[in-house]
Parts: sequence; structure tokens; C-alpha cells
Amino acid sequence: MNYTKRVLRTHLSNNNVEQELRRVIDNLAGSAKYIGDVIRSSTHGLAGTKNIYGEEQATLDVLADTIIRERLQFETSFHVQALASEEQGQIVQLKADSGRYSVTVDPLDGSSLLDANLSVGSIFGIHEGHLLDERTGRESLVAAMYVLYGPETTLVYTAGQGVHEFTLDGVGNWVLAQENLHLDGKRKIYSPGGKRSEWTTNHRDFINDIEKQGHTLRYSGALVADVNHLLKKGGGIFSYPAVQGKPEGKLRLLFELQPLAMIAEQAGGAATDGKEHILNLVPQQLDQRSPIYIGSHFEVDLAYQYLGLGK
Ligand code: F6P
Repeated sequence: MNYTKRVLRTHLSNNNVEQELRRVIDNLAGSAKYIGDVIRSSTHGLAGTKNIYGEEQATLDVLADTIIRERLQFETSFHVQALASEEQGQIVQLKADSGRYSVTVDPLDGSSLLDANLSVGSIFGIHEGHLLDERTGRESLVAAMYVLYGPETTLVYTAGQGVHEFTLDGVGNWVLAQENLHLDGKRKIYSPGGKRSEWTTNHRDFINDIEKQGHTLRYSGALVADVNHLLKKGGGIFSYPAVQGKPEGKLRLLFELQPLAMIAEQAGGAATDGKEHILNLVPQQLDQRSPIYIGSHFEVDLAYQYLGLGK
């Protein structure tokens, strides 16, 4: 396989990803390069620090959000209808009249870990048409992608034909690292979110069962890093459940959970809120949250059993 055949753009076209969608993915992948660079050259995203002119510096979350928005806004080879970002309270209409796709983004997931020099990520969802228009995630999402800023910068995407991983090389190319990542349950990892003292009884029983089966605990505090861990090792489960006083859990459906659920399903795994597939939910508002159990089938099916509500 020669070098050009292994870069993201070629991979997208070889997989017959439609041209405008290819361009959207390429644009977002380009933004991630800038975000990675800003992370590596920053003072750990400290809020309230001042630049050399004495001006208050934006946090890295805000910078990442600006990079993504401006690169979509100033793009001329295609138009995106709308952008919804976890950093903004409302949908930004970019070219409502001409674009085919809309984008959701969590610009810097896990950003509170930056001062400890831990891995963080960006999560992207690409939807056909409008956002929040009463469709399920399964009906509107056409592609999902995340970028993990770790010891290496890696990108994982699906456009409905498997899940593929790329690594950013030294000259700015996304080079194919692994095709068809698969959640086949070979490895037993569990990443249990939420405070144990606030878990429901059903969730605690589920985790006890998982622990009895000898799963290894791995929880980083960044959703992208934890889900990537499952994908790279081939199995296990990440959960962030309903907790006391917060039946909706912590994580956001539109920005975080549905894009990652699409990736999990495309890798042969699953994602549920305990009652329903995450992709079958209809996001009603931008900051809607949901409990999540995501990973390989064995563990997600077990979660359904403990939460008692069938599939
Ligand atoms: O959504 C933000 C986030 O930082 C996720 O990346 C992560 O999985 C989760 O919150 C961590 O939450 P907690 O600090 O409660 O474990």
C-alpha cells in the first residue's frame, strides 16, 4: 500500500463517501490539527491567565470552539447549514439555505484534565439536514468522528462503513493506522462513571457483576480517551449512569453520546441508556443529557438485564 492510499482523504473517496461529506470531514479533521497544536503550545488551558499584552486569555475550550466555527464559516468549497457546539448555548446558522449537512461538536472533551497533562479529545457528529428536528440520531447522523490528543494525535471516524483510525504524522497528514476497529469483546475493561455512593441499586448490582467477571478498571475522566481505549483493546464497557438526584446522568446526548454510539455500533458494539438504544433517542434540546452504557455487546446486554427494561 503506498503512502497516498493511506491518507484520510483517499480513504474517504475509496470508501465512496459522498463528496460534500468528505469535505466536511476533511475540514473538521483540519481543525483538529490546529486544536492539537494549540494544546501542545499552551500553558495547560488555564483560565484567567493573561497574554503578553495583559489581556485575559481564552480557555482552550473556547479556542477550540472558535477554530472549528471559523474554519467552517470561511470554507468556500462547501457550506454547512448549522453548527451546534457544547461551548455555545444555541445553534449557529451558517448557510441554512445551501448546506446539506449540519455539525455538532464537543470541541474539547475532558478539558479539565489538561493541567494534569492527560489525554483529551474532540467529538464531531455530522447530520443530514437540520438539527433538533424530531428525528432520532439514527435517522439524522451520517458520520461521526473523534480526535484524541494523547501521546499521539489520532482520529477515528465512521461514515456508515466501519470504523477507521488515523494517526497525525509529522507533516500534517492523517495516515491510516487501523481499518475496521472492532468491539468484539475480547478484552474485559470497565470504565464506571459517577460516584459509587450515588449509583442506583440496579446499576451497583450491574457493576458488581462486571467486577466478579474479572474486568479491569480503566477510567481516565475523558470520555473520548475511555471509549477509544475500549475500541483499541476490542471490548468492555464505559458507563455513566443515572445517579441520585440526576436521573438524566451527566453526559450530553447530541454532542457526546450519539456520535460515539454511532461509532460503537459501526464497530459491532452497542450503546444504550438502559432502556433504549442511544441512537433511537430523539434529541429535544441542545444540552439534553442521558445515562450511557457503551461498549461490546456482552456487557451492554448485561446492562439491559440489570436495568430491567429489556431492549
Ligand atoms: O463530559 C465531560 C466529561 O469530562 C467526560 O469527558 C468524562 O467522561 C466525564 O465528564 C467525567 O465525569 P466525572 O468527573 O464525573 O468522572
